[in-house]
Formats: sequence, C-alpha cells, structure tokens
Amino acid sequence: MQEYDQHNLTSAVIARLADTPDRRTREIMTSLVGHLHDFARKIRLTEAEWMRGIEFLTATGQKCDDKRQEFILLSDVLGLSMLTVAMNHQKPDGCTEATVFGPFHVEGAPHYEHGADLANGARGQLCTVYGRVTGADGRPIADAVVETWQADADGHYDVQYEGLEVAQGRGVLKSGDDGRFHFRTIVAQAYPIPDDGPVGELLRATGRHPWRPAHLHFMINAPGYETLVTHVFRRGDKYLDSDAVFGVRTSLIGDWVRLTDGTYRLDFDFVLNPAR
Ligand code: BEZ
Ligand code: FE
Repeated sequence: MQEYDQHNLTSAVIARLADTPDRRTREIMTSLVGHLHDFARKIRLTEAEWMRGIEFLTATGQKCDDKRQEFILLSDVLGLSMLTVAMNHQKPDGCTEATVFGPFHVEGAPHYEHGADLANGARGQLCTVYGRVTGADGRPIADAVVETWQADADGHYDVQYEGLEVAQGRGVLKSGDDGRFHFRTIVAQAYPIPDDGPVGELLRATGRHPWRPAHLHFMINAPGYETLVTHVFRRGDKYLDSDAVFGVRTSLIGDWVRLTDGTYRLDFDFVLNPAR
C-alpha cells in the first residue's frame, strides 16, 4: 500500500489525474494541484489557517446571488481578472486596449438615437460624449453596436438601487456611416467596489482601499472585429494609480473638458482589432 507524506503527496494526486479524458482539463487540474501544494508548503500552512481560508471561500459563495457575484469581485481584487484580460487581448499597436468587464453590465439595456440622454434621471453633472469607431487603418466602422454603462454622482450603478425599474446611465447606440456616435449623460465619478462582504474584509485586512477611479464602460461589437470591452478613465482622478481592480491603462485615460456653460464634454475614439 502506498503511504503519503508531504514529499510524495503532490505527485500522487497528479498521477490520479492522468486519466482525465479532456486534455485541457487535465492540464489545468495538474497545474492547479501543483501550485496549490507548493503554496501550502512554501508558507507552511497551518490547519487553523486553512480552516480560516475555507470559511472565507464559503462566505464568498454565500454572498453570491443573481445581483452580486462575490467570486468575480475576489478575482478582480486579486488581479486575476485583469491578468486574464491582458493575456487574451494582446492587440496590434493603435488598437484600443481592453480592461475588466465588471459586475454591473446588464443584458437588454435600452437602445437610443444619437444625442439621446442616457442618464435618464441619474444624478450628476451634465456631459456629452462624442466617440468614433474605426479599424486600425482609420476607416470608419458603420453600425457598430456601442453599449455604455456608468455610475452616478453618488458612485452607484442603477442596478444597485433597490426597486429602480428604469435603466439609468446605460444604453446602446449604433455608430453612423462615419463611425461616429454621441450621447448625453452625466460625469463619471470614482466609487468603491462593493465592500460589505468577504472581499471588503480581505481589502481591510490587507490595508487596501476599495476605490475605482472614475470611468465610463464601453462594449463595442461590429461584424468582422473582436468585441472590445473597455473603459474610459477620467484624467486627474486620484485613484488612477491605485485602482482596486488594476484595470487602468494609460491609453484609456480621457479628458472630461468643462465647457463655458458648466457642462462637460468627453471625446474618445475606439479602434477595433479585426477578428482572428
Ligand atoms: C466596475 O467597473 O464596474 C467594476 C469592476 C470590477 C469590480 C467592481 C466593479
Ligand atoms: Fe465600473
């Protein structure tokens, strides 16, 4: 009979995975077990610490429902979401960079004409956003489906308000023949990611803040091009260097310019990468 100790256990577990029918599942599980065991050995994990870890993961699962995904939040604050985005969206120079999707996108957002008010009652300083969608060759992309969503002046998305039935600060537009689109909304503000659960506890335990710099989310789809999921971040925001989810890229920082009438204007162009 084979006996297991701290030296031979890892290879024994990995050997049991040898018959995993799906090759990629076998590769992922083998690597995961190897790294988990190495981690436990390296920090000399105690039983009490591992029980605390299990309690933390249990609480993370229990915090999830149809509106709250605490595991995605955990992946976000550990930088794993952004790492996965960065590895899977390496683009040629000039294409707009991708960043994290976040938990506040909602399927079925209302469709609007150019110039419409997407704030739809959300509180904030008035702002008009002008954008253009092109390919890397600079040619306009017509009929691109441009979806945008953002937080209000209090740093809340519409879905965070209990009982709010209408979409506020989100919507879908189509680019015109010249690739351009524009809409009215409110100025994006910095906000803390939801920190009333285990992920918030983890941030506090590690001396980290929960804030994201002000940003406007975009998802852009056009036939023949890779879907672009990105944000435009607000230049000057004090959290640009310490985004709680590591999503900031210099190329995604835009200028919300204050106009003489006290409203703001943002101009930002999006360059799509051809689909592979
Ligand atoms: C967001 O930008 O909406 C977001 C991204 C990651 C975690 C929480 C919020
Ligand atoms: Fe956001």
